[in-house]
Amino acid sequence: MRLEKIRVLIINDEAESRINLQNILATFEGIEIVGDCADDQEAIEVVGKLLPDIILMDVYMPRLDNFTTAEKISLRFPRCAVVIISMQGEQEYLRRAMLAGARDYLVKPFKAEDLLSTIRHVYELENKRNNLEGKEKDARFKSQVVTVFGTKGGVGKTTIAVNLAMLLAKSKKKVALIDLDLQFGDVSIFLNLSPRRTISELSQEGNELDISLIESYLIPHISGTRVLPAPGRPEYAELIMPRHVEAIINQLKLYYEYIIIDTPPTFNETNLSAIDLSTQILLVLSMDMATIKNVKLSLELLDSLHQRGKTKLVLNRASDDMGIRIYDAEDTLGFLIAAHIPSDGKLVVSALNKGVPFVLTNPSAKVSLAVKDLGDMVIKDLGYQKDLIESRKKPFFKRIFQ
Ligand SMILES: Nc1ncnc2c1ncn2[C@@H]1O[C@H](COP(=O)(O)OP(=O)(O)OP(=O)(O)O)[C@@H](O)[C@H]1O
Ligand SMILES: [Mg+2]
Repeated sequence: MRLEKIRVLIINDEAESRINLQNILATFEGIEIVGDCADDQEAIEVVGKLLPDIILMDVYMPRLDNFTTAEKISLRFPRCAVVIISMQGEQEYLRRAMLAGARDYLVKPFKAEDLLSTIRHVYELENKRNNLEGKEKDARFKSQVVTVFGTKGGVGKTTIAVNLAMLLAKSKKKVALIDLDLQFGDVSIFLNLSPRRTISELSQEGNELDISLIESYLIPHISGTRVLPAPGRPEYAELIMPRHVEAIINQLKLYYEYIIIDTPPTFNETNLSAIDLSTQILLVLSMDMATIKNVKLSLELLDSLHQRGKTKLVLNRASDDMGIRIYDAEDTLGFLIAAHIPSDGKLVVSALNKGVPFVLTNPSAKVSLAVKDLGDMVIKDLGYQKDLIESRKKPFFKRIFQ
C-alpha cells in the first residue's frame, strides 16, 4: 500500500524558479508534486481541481497582486495551505502574507532542509486543525469526483457507476451520484426511484445553486447514496448548461467525499465540464473491436484535453473467451487496463430489472467482488498508468502474494 504523501502545488511564473523548486522537492521522499502553475490567474482553478495539501507561491516585486490570489485561495480552499516564498523578508511582507491567510513564509535564499521542514510543519499543523474541525458540518472533504465514461453505448457505464456508488456508501463514505446522461439517463431505474424533481428543475432555480438548494434535490437511497436524477424527458436536457454542472459539482465537492457521475456515450459540453472537474475518470470498455477503436479515439481526445493522466481503463464483461487477448487490446490502445468486471448476465440484468444493485443483494458474487476491488482502487486513488506500469514490473509471484 502507498504511504500518504504530502501533495504540493507550485505557483510561480518564472520557469527557472519552478524547475529549481521541483528539483529540490523531487529529492524528498514523502512529497508529491501534483502540479505547477505559471499564471496566478489560473491558479484558483488549478487549486480547485487538484486540492493540494500545500501550495508554494512566489511573491515578488512588482507582482504583489499574488497576495490577493493567495487570499482568494485561502478563503475558497481552506484545506489547501499556502506557503509564501519571497525575496523580501521585511515585516510588511510578512504581515501581508498573514492577512492573505498564508500558513508560513520562506525568505529566499533558503536551504533545502528549511523548505522540507516548513512543508512538514505546515502539513502537520493543518492535519491537527482539520482533525479538530472534522466534526463540523462544513468540513471540507478532499473529495474525489469520479466520472464513469465511455463513448460506446451499453458498455456498462451506468451499471458500474451505480454499483460503485453503493459500495462506497456501504463503506460509510459520503456519496453523491449524479446522472449526467441527460437525455436517456436511467440511474433512477437501476435504483427503483421515482423522482419528481431532477437536475433539469434544479438548473432552472437561478444562478446561485448553493448546497442547501442542491441537497433538496438529492434523493436519498437506502444505501446512503444521495442521487441527483437525470431529467424526466430527453427534451429537457438542453436546459442544463455546463455552468450548472460546474456549480453542482463544485458545491457537492465541499460536502461529499465521493461524487460519482454517470454519463452518456458522447463527448458533449456538460460531460466535458464533469470530466474537467473530475479527479478520476473511469473509461469503460468491452472487448470488441468497435469499442476498442472508440476507446483509442477517446484516449486521444482525453489526451488533447489534458485529461489522460486521470484516466483508468475498466474492462467490463471480461471473460476467458472474448476472442481478443487483453494483452493485445492494451498493446493497440497503448494503455493498460486497471480493473476487470466479469460478465454475469443473469445477476446483472435481473438486478437492473428489480431496481436493486447486485452489490447489495449478492455481495459475494464474482461481479460484486470485482466492483469492490474497483472501489478500493478508487478509494486508494490507484490504477493510474504509472501505478500499473510499476506493479507489472514486479515479478509475478510478488504481485500475487503481496
Ligand atoms: N458485467 C456485466 N455482465 C453482464 N451484463 C452486464 C454487465 N454490465 C452491464 N451489463 C448489462 O448491459 C446492459 C447495458 O449496461 P449499462 O446500461 O450499464 O450500459 P451503459 O454503458 O450505461 O449504456 P448507455 O450507453 O446506453 O448508457 C444492461 O442490460 C446491463 O445489465
Ligand atoms: Mg448508461
